[in-house]
Amino acid sequence: MTNKNLIDLEAMSVQQIDKLVKKAKKIMQSPADYRHACDGKILATLFYEPSTRTQMSFQTAMLKLGGRTIGFDNPMNSSVSKGENLKDTIAVISGYSDIIAIRHPTEGTAMAASLYSEVPVINCGDGGHLHPTQTLTDIVTLSCEKGRLDHLKIGVCGDLLNGRTVHSLIKALSKYEGNSFVLISTPELSVPIYIIDILEKNHCAYEISHNLADAVRDLDMLYMTRIQRERFGSEEEYQAQKNVFVLDKEKLDNAREDMIILHPLPRVNEITVEIDDDPRALYFKQAQYGMFGRMALILLLLQDEEFMLSARDTFISDYRCNNPKCITQSEKYLPRLSYEKLGMQMCDFCDKRID
Ligand code: CP
Repeated sequence: MTNKNLIDLEAMSVQQIDKLVKKAKKIMQSPADYRHACDGKILATLFYEPSTRTQMSFQTAMLKLGGRTIGFDNPMNSSVSKGENLKDTIAVISGYSDIIAIRHPTEGTAMAASLYSEVPVINCGDGGHLHPTQTLTDIVTLSCEKGRLDHLKIGVCGDLLNGRTVHSLIKALSKYEGNSFVLISTPELSVPIYIIDILEKNHCAYEISHNLADAVRDLDMLYMTRIQRERFGSEEEYQAQKNVFVLDKEKLDNAREDMIILHPLPRVNEITVEIDDDPRALYFKQAQYGMFGRMALILLLLQDEEFMLSARDTFISDYRCNNPKCITQSEKYLPRLSYEKLGMQMCDFCDKRID
């Protein structure tokens, strides 16, 4: 089965990712050629959770392609505040727009939205679950700055448990040959088991580290992430984790001259401001690459009939997902869609085991 929704980067083949990167580079080289590519088209940005980069880069991407944008960045200013459910909001907005970009604090929301939309839906972050267009941003940056997406030693550091950008990044880069990973976090914030399963399934070498100063020594890329305060059960738990890993000049002195430093941003304290002037610090440039990646994505979804994304085979389960962070907990009308993985039933919205 195929469709035009980008919910999880798993839906894109390596060839499709490469096609998108190539398109983004073409746009960067000749932006004027794309100034009217989306004349008359409307992008709806539905942001139920705060954002600077993802929302504005999508809006800028559509404007630079000649299209227009509608949407909200605070659901309390929309009829969501009167109790309108996701299904009704999407059914209406998909009648106003040609493509929808949605961010929501609850896992599986973009997937749920896609069930009720007549137009392509792009996941701009669903809780701590996935953030595929951040990964496209990271991949465009890597390709432009390192010249390749394979045979890289990649360090990821920070909140590897709740950081959806890290999950999407590891899933995507583990498909490329010869990549290896150093997973740098406290034991409490280590990557979920399913990410380890993916690394093992794809035969990727990985190490676990609790020491940033040591881990940084032989990396091609260091991907720093913020500790996700909003995903903790209590302030006390957050306070115990914040500032454990801070990239400063002293630690960076251990790294290679050709290592690049990426960060999905926003930064809190995990990279000191003095690092910003180091030529290896590419996180602001990375945010700009993201805009070109999103321009390429909009074009491929709206104009390239061959660019169809894969969709899983699903079935209606007898079980209900009991992940408290899953959208099925609040939007009760959603079907109990599930899929099978290694003989287990998984929730099609949040990817957690349900049987
Ligand atoms: N990287 C990222 O998602 O940033 P925003 O939260 O500002 O969109």
